Amino acid sequence: MNVKELVGKMTLEEKASLCAGGGWWQTKPIDRLGIPSVYMTDGPHGLRKQEGTGDHLGLNASVPATCFPTAAGLASSFDRSLIARQASALAVEAQAHDVSILLGPGTNIKRSPLCGRNFEYFSEDPVLAGEMAASYIKSLQEGGVGCSLKHFAANNQESYRMGGDSLVDERTLREIYLRPFEIAVTKGKPQTVMCSYNRINGVFSCENEWLLTKVLRDDWGFDGYVVTDWGAMDIRVDALKAGCELEMPSSDMTTCNQIADAVKKGELDEAILDRAVTRMLNILYRWIETNKREVTLDLEEHHKLAREIAAQTMVLAKNNGVLPLDAKKSTAIIGAYGKKIMFQGGGSSHINNPYEDSVVDEWSKLGEVVYAEGVRADGTTDDALINEAVEAAKKAQNVLLVVGSPMETEGADRKEMTLPAGVVKLVDAVASVRPDCAVALTCGAPVELPFIDKIGALLVAYLGGQAAAGAIVDLVSGAKNPCAKFAETWPVDFRHNPSHPNYALKDVEYREGVFVGYRHYDMHGINPRFRFGYGLSYTTFEYGEPTISASAITEGDPLTVSVDVKNTGGVAGAEIVQLYVGQDVCTNVPRPVKELKDFAKVWLEPGETKTVKFELDSRAFAYWNDFAKAWTVDSGSFTVSVAPSSCPYCQKKMSVTVTSTSAKPRPLTLYSTIPELMAFPGGAELIGKMMQNAPTLSALNNDGEDMLGMDMKAMVEGIPLKTMLMFAGGAISEEQFGGILAQLNAAAGVA
Ligand code: BGC
Repeated sequence: MNVKELVGKMTLEEKASLCAGGGWWQTKPIDRLGIPSVYMTDGPHGLRKQEGTGDHLGLNASVPATCFPTAAGLASSFDRSLIARQASALAVEAQAHDVSILLGPGTNIKRSPLCGRNFEYFSEDPVLAGEMAASYIKSLQEGGVGCSLKHFAANNQESYRMGGDSLVDERTLREIYLRPFEIAVTKGKPQTVMCSYNRINGVFSCENEWLLTKVLRDDWGFDGYVVTDWGAMDIRVDALKAGCELEMPSSDMTTCNQIADAVKKGELDEAILDRAVTRMLNILYRWIETNKREVTLDLEEHHKLAREIAAQTMVLAKNNGVLPLDAKKSTAIIGAYGKKIMFQGGGSSHINNPYEDSVVDEWSKLGEVVYAEGVRADGTTDDALINEAVEAAKKAQNVLLVVGSPMETEGADRKEMTLPAGVVKLVDAVASVRPDCAVALTCGAPVELPFIDKIGALLVAYLGGQAAAGAIVDLVSGAKNPCAKFAETWPVDFRHNPSHPNYALKDVEYREGVFVGYRHYDMHGINPRFRFGYGLSYTTFEYGEPTISASAITEGDPLTVSVDVKNTGGVAGAEIVQLYVGQDVCTNVPRPVKELKDFAKVWLEPGETKTVKFELDSRAFAYWNDFAKAWTVDSGSFTVSVAPSSCPYCQKKMSVTVTSTSAKPRPLTLYSTIPELMAFPGGAELIGKMMQNAPTLSALNNDGEDMLGMDMKAMVEGIPLKTMLMFAGGAISEEQFGGILAQLNAAAGVA
C-alpha cells in the first residue's frame, strides 16, 4: 500500500477523523478509501474483548479467554522464552476474535509495594522489566497481533493517576523509569505505545513533546504511533503537535473537529496531521500485510499452558525441609482460597476465564484431603472457623494453608502492606500447633509477613492466572521444582521502601532518585524480608569461579563473562543466574552499589553443569549525565559480579577497568575549582602560567599545614577560580580569564 498516496486522497475532515476512536475499542474506518477500522482491547495477560457494545467499566461481559499468569509472577521467572510462549498464545486468542492490537504489556517500574497495579507490572529493575516486555512484544507481534506498550511514562501509582504530576529528574527518568520502555521499544519494536494519564514534570504525557518525540522517536527510533490511555487526552491539538496520534476512546468527533478547525485557522500545520495519519496507516497496512494467519483456538490447551507457565512464576521463599509434601499422606488444606483461589486483579485486565483450578480439587487427585475454611475469601474469620482449622491441622499429616491478599486493583493503591487480620490470625493459630505447615500465598505485590518465623514453608504464588491452583499443587507436591526468583524486594515494612513517604501524593516527587528497590536497600545496608533475585529450589546449585574476558577495556570493547553452574542436588531444576555491575568509586554522581545488567535461566539435571555466558556492552557501565545530556561512562574500575540473587554476600566478584571515550568534562566557569581546571584538557598548563604571574597564588599552593593547623591544599582546592583571581591581586582580569576558559571549553568540545 502506498500510504503517502492514500493520505493525499484524504480530505482534511477524514484525516482528522482518524485521530480519535470510533467507539470504545476501535478506530474509525473510511469506507470511501477502503481504510478499515482497527480493533484493540486489553491485555496484558488475557484477552478482554467485550461482546456487544463496549464500555470502559466492563459492564458488558467479555468473551471467554484464558487468564494467564500476571506480570508480577511472569517477571519472577526471569525467563524470556517463557513470556514469549505466553504472548504467542495471547496472539492466537486475539486473532481468533479479530483483535488487531492487544493493550499491553505494562512495563512501569514498581516504585512502591503499595501500587494497586503492581500485579500488572514486571519489576523494580529496569533491565528485567524491559527485557520481559521486549520478549512479550516480539512474540505477540510475530503471532500477527500488534502490541500497545503501556503506560508511558512515570505512572507508578494509582492515586491521582489522572491528574497527578510525577516530579522526576531526567537522570532518574532515563536510568530507571524510561529504561524499560527504551529496551522494549528498541528490542521489541511495538506497533503502538500508550501514553499514561499523569503529568510528568508539569506536562501531561499526551502532550509531552520531550517524551513522545525527543525521547521516544528521536532517541529510540520508535516508528509506530502513540495512543492515549482511555480518557487521557488533555488538549487535542497540543497533543497532536507533541506526537500523540490517536485519542481513545471515541470523543464523538469533538476533538477531531478541533483538529480540522485548527488547520483551517492556520493554528496547526496540516503537515503535522499528515504525519500522524501516515504513522497510523503505516502500522495498519504493515499489520494487514503480515497478518495472514489462520488460527485455531483451543482453550483447553491454553489452560494446560497456563498451568505450565504458572509453575515457573511462583517463588519458594522459605522451606525448612517441609516441602515438597508427600501427597500420599493425609493433607489438611486450609483457607477459602484452597477451594476458590485468588488468581487475578481488578480493572481493565480482568478476564472472563473459561476454566479455573482449585487446590482442593487438584490435590484430591493425588491423595486424601480434609478442607477447613479457616478464613473467608474477604480475609475475615471467627473463632469457630479458626478452631475447626486448628483441629484439622492437628489431625492431618500435611498442612497446607492457601491464603492471600483479597484486593489488588487498578485505580486504587493499597494503604498498607498488610494481609487481612483474619489471615494473620489463622496462620498464627495453625502454626502454633503445626510449625511444619506450608503456606501458599496469593498477592499482587509484597505483603508484610508477621508469621514468617513460625511457619515451615512459604510459596509466593502471586496472581498466577486461572491455572494457579493447579500450579501450586504441582510445586507443593514436588511434581515440579520451583525455579522463580523475586523480581522485586520484599521489605519487612512498607516504610522501609525508598519512596516512603513521597508516594500516593498528587504532586509526587521521586526524591529517592535512582535508588529504587534493591539499589536503595544495598546503599543503606538494610536487610529486607526477601531480596530482589532471591528464590529457593528443591535442589541446590553451585557456581564455579566466573571468568571475565579482559581486566581492562576501552569503552565500547566487547566484554564476556562466563560462569559454570552445577546442579548439586538430587532433582532436576532451573537456576536463574544474575549479572551485576557497579562502579567502585563514583566522583561525578552517586551510583548504586550494583545494578542488574543481564540474567539467564538454565535447566540442569542432577549432577549436570552448564556454562552461562553474558556479553556486556558499554551501556552496562554508563549513567545518564545530566550536564552532557547523554549516556556517559566515567573511567575507572568496576566490579562485575555473578550471583544467584542480589544479596551482597553471595556475589562472585571480578574487576574490570574501563577507559572512557564518552566522558566529557563539565564546562569550566569562574566558579570551577583548581582541581577541576587541572583535570581539564589544557588546564594544568594554564595553572602553571598563573602561578608564575601571580606569586600570591604559589604561596597558597603549599602542601603542608599553615600556622593555624589548616590543611592548606584541601582548603585551596575548594576555592572557586573567581576568588583565586581576586587573591592573585588583579594579575589577570575576570574578563580575560573568562575568555581563556571559553577557549579551553571550545577546544574540549563542551562550549
Ligand atoms: C487502563 C489501561 C487500559 C485501558 C483500556 C485504562 O483505564 O489504564 O491499562 O488498557 O483502560 O481498558
